[in-house]
Amino acid sequence: MMDYATFARFYDQIMGDRTEEIARIEAYLDRHLPDASTLLELGCGTGAILAGLAGRFAVTGIDRSPEMLEVAARRLPGIPLVQADITRFQLGTRFDAVICVFDTLNHLPTFEQWLALFGRAREHLTDGGLFVFDVNTTGRMRRLHSSDRYVEDFGPNVFSMRVEPFDGDVSLWTTTIFESTGDGTYRQHQERILELAVPLAQIRRALAADFDLLDQAGYDGELPDDDSDRAFFAYRRRPG
Ligand SMILES: C[S@@+](CC[C@H](N)C(=O)[O-])C[C@H]1O[C@@H](n2cnc3c(N)ncnc32)[C@H](O)[C@@H]1O
Repeated sequence: MMDYATFARFYDQIMGDRTEEIARIEAYLDRHLPDASTLLELGCGTGAILAGLAGRFAVTGIDRSPEMLEVAARRLPGIPLVQADITRFQLGTRFDAVICVFDTLNHLPTFEQWLALFGRAREHLTDGGLFVFDVNTTGRMRRLHSSDRYVEDFGPNVFSMRVEPFDGDVSLWTTTIFESTGDGTYRQHQERILELAVPLAQIRRALAADFDLLDQAGYDGELPDDDSDRAFFAYRRRPG
């Protein structure tokens, strides 16, 4: 199932700006690695986050979706953007910071793939480099399963989203876009995306061998647990 092919064209309009996410990443860097100068985003999508960080860091983005990268390339001329699987890439260079945000990690539907991504993050970080990521929690996924379909207008178009149980801890997100054709009719586009949720303790255990946990928070700065909506983490790569 290849995701974001259709969604790419509408993505930024629906998701809005990323001021909050960018500020959060910058705050982690200010606090833990103020001299950082290079940054790699895993799953950079349309480059909305990178655009907010490119003035301060030499940034690089990786994504597997050519459609998302096409939008990113228009937004970020001259910035290195690589089409690759974020669990299996080798850039041959290291960065002060690696980020994987806006629930991109959840898009990897098996925990083995999460472990592979943690390995790629480690390989591409300098000693003492910062790994910043966020996840949708198991609690949030459970709540979304019993929520009504989410519907929102954007411009003349309509966006709708439904989250259902799929297989074990994997959920199926179905997004439907009704694109106004301007003559009172709508063209329908649909995209299905799988998301895996993993208990936070399992994530912390997986990272403990190679990284030191520096920060963890829910949306409002509270200590996150599996019932938080989202959990944010900053880890330092241990030298060696
Ligand atoms: C929720 S979007 C986030 C995009 C961007 N980080 C942002 O904040 O706007 C998730 C992105 O991850 C990408 N993605 C998902 N699985 C991937 C994989 N295995 N390898 C590379 N990119 C992947 C998708 O193509 C999509 O662009």
